[in-house]
Amino acid sequence: MPMDIHFARLNQLAFGYWHAQTLFTLTQAGVFDRLQDEALDAAEIARACGLDADAGTALFDAGVALGLLRKGDTGRYENSELSRALLLSEQAGSLANWVRVMGRWVAPWTTVGEALRAGHAVDPQSPKIVGDAAYLEEFILGMHEYAARSSDAVAAAIDLGAARRLVDVGGGGGSYSIALCRRYPQLESVVLDLEPVLAITRRIVESAGLAQRVHTQRCDYRASAFGDGVDAVLLSNVLHQESREVGLDMLRRAFAALRPAGRVIVHGHFLDENRTSPVFATLHNLSARTLWEGGHSYTAAEMSALLEEAGFPDPRVTAVAASATKVIAGTRPAS
Ligand SMILES: C[S@@+](CC[C@H](N)C(=O)[O-])C[C@H]1O[C@@H](n2cnc3c(N)ncnc32)[C@H](O)[C@@H]1O
Repeated sequence: MPMDIHFARLNQLAFGYWHAQTLFTLTQAGVFDRLQDEALDAAEIARACGLDADAGTALFDAGVALGLLRKGDTGRYENSELSRALLLSEQAGSLANWVRVMGRWVAPWTTVGEALRAGHAVDPQSPKIVGDAAYLEEFILGMHEYAARSSDAVAAAIDLGAARRLVDVGGGGGSYSIALCRRYPQLESVVLDLEPVLAITRRIVESAGLAQRVHTQRCDYRASAFGDGVDAVLLSNVLHQESREVGLDMLRRAFAALRPAGRVIVHGHFLDENRTSPVFATLHNLSARTLWEGGHSYTAAEMSALLEEAGFPDPRVTAVAASATKVIAGTRPAS
């Protein structure tokens, strides 16, 4: 490979966070929302968003260069198509809360080296999220915004047969309960999550028009039982946040909650068997080890082995192209 290609790639890697931080700063300052209905000049945006006028101009111009804003001939700024589609807080299909959460994770991500030396997260986010109402709201809404882009495709990869009772462990905003109830008309789901999360879950479920079929129940998934005689247990994007021991214990409690022939479904990002791809999964692994106490990623084979250890023989792996995630399903033996 010619040297200039290596140099270009190195630049891209080393300057990557400059791009991200510009997006986060514009979002945190509320620039996109302020420009929702009108184009403004730099002084007007800076005043409305609490920025110094001269320094603010540098930020807005960088936003233009990155395709997040547009600058007209009069020098007024407006949102780009991308920002109008994805970054306005109140817009359907927005990812504004998710971007705010990514911005919040810049600080803990700087502890990645320390976490890897210690072998565990040194700035774990769970207690911070639960202890800060604004962070919790952004986290749950943000995860839902992101999930909503592919939750129908994920639901299509989940075979629930004639299941009527689903338990969604650590279900957050209820994204997958909603998608599965839409796909399976006979299904009802209970989202199990920490108490402060559930008020947000109920708002999301209500606005999806599924309050009669998606219920909520307070639960500490590290300790509580997950129910009794249920048809299916979903563990979506939760096991990478926990140690292998906690994960195995959760799968055993899923087994105990299921009726014979009931199904456990694990959904999330998995490393390929070589552990060096896909790129996102390798970085997700670093993120899990940095943000969550005991967190780490699995390969699909490792997760399948964990399911087998918990009593589910021959788990089945299905890839979901739309989300680059996998669904791993196990069945509790009939007898
Ligand atoms: C990454 S989100 C996943 C949400 C959802 N399952 C999904 O796939 O989009 C992790 C969820 O686990 C929940 N959670 C974390 N610790 C928990 C605990 N000890 N007990 C119950 N829920 C917990 C969080 O509140 C959050 O809703």
